[in-house]
Amino acid sequence: TYVIAQPCVDVKDKACIEECPVDCIYEGRRSLYIHPEECVDCGACEPVCPVEAIFYEDDVPGEWRDYHRANVEFFDDLGSPGGASGLGLIERDHPLIDGQPVRTA
Ligand code: F3S
Ligand code: F3S
Repeated sequence: TYVIAQPCVDVKDKACIEECPVDCIYEGRRSLYIHPEECVDCGACEPVCPVEAIFYEDDVPGEWRDYHRANVEFFDDLGSPGGASGLGLIERDHPLIDGQPVRTA
């Protein structure tokens, strides 16, 4: 799977959403999250993120390694909705993202 890491927090550019052929990039309050089972590893999202927040799971930089777990655990109580557009904004974040200092541009 691909993973959305710390640079997305409070940025949420959403260019990635347009590229994903399986609609598996879900929107939380402060970040977006890639569904680990719905992602087909096409990689189309990775180059379009203007802040380079997206990585293949094996390539996540060490300082952001925990974001792999955050992307997975975000879906613990959602299961596999099978499409992000039908859900829209999900009014919460993973605790790792909740703990990030608020980014002010
Ligand atoms: Fe976030 Fe980059 Fe997508 S900022 S919403 S991962 S394009
Ligand atoms: Fe979609 Fe990116 Fe995976 S475009 S299928 S989330 S690699």
